[in-house]
Amino acid sequence: MNEYDIERLIGLTKDIIESKEPNKLQMICEILKEKVDHYDWVGFYLVDDRDNRMLVLGPFSGDATEHVRIPFGRGICGQAAETGKLFLIQDVTSEDNYLSCGSNVRSEIVLPIYSNGTIVGELDIDSHQYSPFDNNDEKLLERICIMVADLF
Ligand code: SME
Repeated sequence: MNEYDIERLIGLTKDIIESKEPNKLQMICEILKEKVDHYDWVGFYLVDDRDNRMLVLGPFSGDATEHVRIPFGRGICGQAAETGKLFLIQDVTSEDNYLSCGSNVRSEIVLPIYSNGTIVGELDIDSHQYSPFDNNDEKLLERICIMVADLF
C-alpha cells in the first residue's frame, strides 16, 4: 500500500462518516475489505456496555465467526484490549494466545479504538497471507480508528 492508497481510503472513509448512511461501521468494513487485497476479514469489536472487560462482535465483512464475545486478555483481540496497544501478528501459527477464525487465516492486525481516553472498541483485520501488513497499513488503520471513534 502506498501513500496514494492511504489517502484514497481515508477519503472514502470520510465520505461514509459524513453521509447519512445508517450503517457506517458496516460500510467501512466492506470498503476496506473490497479495496485492499490483503484484507480478507474486516470487523469491529465493541466493548460491552454491561461488562467493560468483554468485547462483543460488531459490524464485519467476511466469513461468520464463532468469536462473538471475547474476554479481555483472550486471543489477539483480548490482548490488544487488555494492553490498549496495537497488535500485529504476521504469522498467527506462531501464537499461543490466538483464537482461530478459519484455517486460511495467516496474519492479523488489531487496533484499539479510544474515545475520551477510554477503549470503546477495536478494529480487527485478518489476512490469508503471511506478513502482508507494513507501516502504511498501521498508518491508515490508526487514522481510521481515530475517525470512527465518535461512531461508538
Ligand atoms: N483471531 C482473533 C479472534 C477474532 S477473529 O480474527 C474474527 C483473536 O485471536 O482474538
